Amino acid sequence: MDMTGKTRVCGVIGDPIEHTLSPLMHNAAFEAVKLDYVFLAFKVKTAELENAVNGIRALNVRGLNVTMPHKTSVLKFLDRVDLSAQIINSVNTILNRDNKLFGFNTDGVGALKALRENGVELKGRKVLLLGAGGAARAIAYAMARESDELAVLNRTLKPAQELAKLLEKTVNKKIVAGMLSSKEIQQNLQDSDILINATSIGMKPKADESLVAPKLLRPDLAVMDIVYNPIETQLAKDAKAAGGKVVSGVEMLIYQGAASFEIWTGKSAPVEVMRQAALSHLQKV
Ligand SMILES: NC(=O)c1ccc[n+]([C@@H]2O[C@H](COP(=O)([O-])OP(=O)(O)OC[C@H]3O[C@@H](n4cnc5c(N)ncnc54)[C@H](OP(=O)(O)O)[C@@H]3O)[C@@H](O)[C@H]2O)c1
Repeated sequence: MDMTGKTRVCGVIGDPIEHTLSPLMHNAAFEAVKLDYVFLAFKVKTAELENAVNGIRALNVRGLNVTMPHKTSVLKFLDRVDLSAQIINSVNTILNRDNKLFGFNTDGVGALKALRENGVELKGRKVLLLGAGGAARAIAYAMARESDELAVLNRTLKPAQELAKLLEKTVNKKIVAGMLSSKEIQQNLQDSDILINATSIGMKPKADESLVAPKLLRPDLAVMDIVYNPIETQLAKDAKAAGGKVVSGVEMLIYQGAASFEIWTGKSAPVEVMRQAALSHLQKV
């Protein structure tokens, strides 16, 4: 990668940030489409968030990804926020256009694209979503719009109820909210077509954990686990063994990254290059 005086800078801010795969995916993508861009990771503490966002303008940084714990607190420092990011109160992508900062959230479109590109359609389907955290909120909004029915179960009931209430007002559909118990999972799975795990359960180092008993998985149930480390979670292994379609969290990671890439560059993202960059790193760790 040859950097020049014209090289445009993109990056990701968060804390911690050392684990991020975004520099690998985006630098591989910039190189593949021969863009004079570079992507860096910046560890930004909460107390420094406002300074960091002002630094985007001062240094003419083209765009940023935003990760934990800044996805909500960053909104107040932006000039404009896209409607879906406003609704879920979470931004994961910033674009600097002529010194005006625009906020977006690509997690929902990333999840939708991951499902569709892997042959899972939403129309006429019921989705059961496990989790009501940051990523789950973005996914819930996308699913509430695109699917026919949505149920959200969370370990802590209140965020699930608040999310369901917010979505009901926005999409004008009934959204079920409940506690993340084995009984609720079993009941809700009976008539669901798609199951999405958007909790952190199954993530390394506790990679053998799953919230769903294998006997509840069926060949006609499509499963997406948004956890991407390990590449194949316990839930994904169990769903595969039951004969169902499985969509990996790596797919969502790639498509949310691809959507950010397109916002910053205006060019189609080289999805296969991004996939290989992410997979080759994840296979090593
Ligand atoms: N594939 C992708 O592109 C992508 C994108 C973003 C995130 N992710 C992954 O998605 C996962 C969640 O990320 P996030 O940013 O949404 O995190 P988050 O905002 O902290 O939310 C965590 C979620 O997991 C639930 N949870 C945590 N520990 C639990 C436990 N022991 N039992 C049951 N539920 C539990 C939380 O429930 P409570 O509300 O009760 O705490 C909450 O719903 C992480 O593994 C992250 O790496 C993947």
